[in-house]
Amino acid sequence: MKTSKILVTGGAGFIGSHLCEKLLDQGHTVIAFDMSDGLKIEHLWGHERFQFVRDSILNEEILEEQFKDIDIVFHFAAVADPKRYVMDPLGTLEVDLKGTLNLLKVASRCGVKVMFASTSEIYGKNPNVPWSETSERVLGSTHIHRWCYATAKAAGEHYCYAYYEQKKMPFVIFRFFNVYGPRLDDLGSGRVIPMFLKQFLENKPLYIHDQGKQTRTFVYVDDVIEAITKLAFTPKAEGQVFNIGSTEETSILKLADLMRRIGHFQSEFVFVPYKDAFGPGFEDIPRRVPDVRKIYDAIGWKSTTPLEVGLQKTLEYYSQYK
Ligand SMILES: NC(=O)c1ccc[n+]([C@@H]2O[C@H](COP(=O)([O-])OP(=O)(O)OC[C@H]3O[C@@H](n4cnc5c(N)ncnc54)[C@H](O)[C@@H]3O)[C@@H](O)[C@H]2O)c1
Repeated sequence: MKTSKILVTGGAGFIGSHLCEKLLDQGHTVIAFDMSDGLKIEHLWGHERFQFVRDSILNEEILEEQFKDIDIVFHFAAVADPKRYVMDPLGTLEVDLKGTLNLLKVASRCGVKVMFASTSEIYGKNPNVPWSETSERVLGSTHIHRWCYATAKAAGEHYCYAYYEQKKMPFVIFRFFNVYGPRLDDLGSGRVIPMFLKQFLENKPLYIHDQGKQTRTFVYVDDVIEAITKLAFTPKAEGQVFNIGSTEETSILKLADLMRRIGHFQSEFVFVPYKDAFGPGFEDIPRRVPDVRKIYDAIGWKSTTPLEVGLQKTLEYYSQYK
């Protein structure tokens, strides 16, 4: 395979850190651009083909400096924790909308191909699962902060299409459906697995929203990295959007049960209404299931790691925080 010089915004985040590892393994030269402390990629710091730049995508000038000789940019920097986008809609919109616009503007100017991390959230509350890439988006009102993340990501997608058609900027959009694995957020974030794990590890009651009947599909990070690194080097994927997820539909209650069993935890389950957890006005999505035929047809990919196996690996990683 021909090697490339690749920029990964959000490269010190959960998915970004695994991506940087894989790209280096494949022989590419990688710049991780992220405003965090970079501890998730600390083990890569001394690598001869790796560079970590600590700054914000809101800083367009510094961002543009990173584009010298870049072939591909994976744009993964974002506020992605549901707790944060409910509590800090302004910060979320700044990064996820304005930051993305900065990135796309610079990439288009420099003629660099963009891999954009979008989300299953953009389908909103559409009850007709599984969702294919052309399914309707059914979002709540703009006064519900929950939707600012989905809206910003959807605007980013529109911009990708617009830059592609009007400025010939190549892109591929990934719509991720609940990715998990080692280095997912700090314990206690708003994403369900680290949120549950914190309670389990502290042997505290586990708070489950409503009755835990809502369903998700969870895709293991290694499977995702395989999908996105293939798509990035598949010319026929250009100008398209792909769902990336598992088809194993799991209720939140079942997830909690599975985690408790695998980790031999003792916590009791306590069922709480959404408004007590997120404040008034939070809206959840009852079922979230991808149709993944498009990515299978394009590159022959489907998720292969069973939830139980992926959770085992994830729990092993987090057990260091016991
Ligand atoms: N993990 C999932 O299940 C999932 C699902 C759907 C979409 N996504 C998208 O995938 C991408 C990666 O998600 P993740 O799970 O790795 O999240 P993450 O929070 O671990 O990574 C995001 C990274 O972006 C960085 N960042 C935030 N603001 C920044 C800024 N202004 N400038 C530079 N860096 C900044 C953060 O420091 C963090 O390291 C995000 O765009 C997210 O929206 C993830």
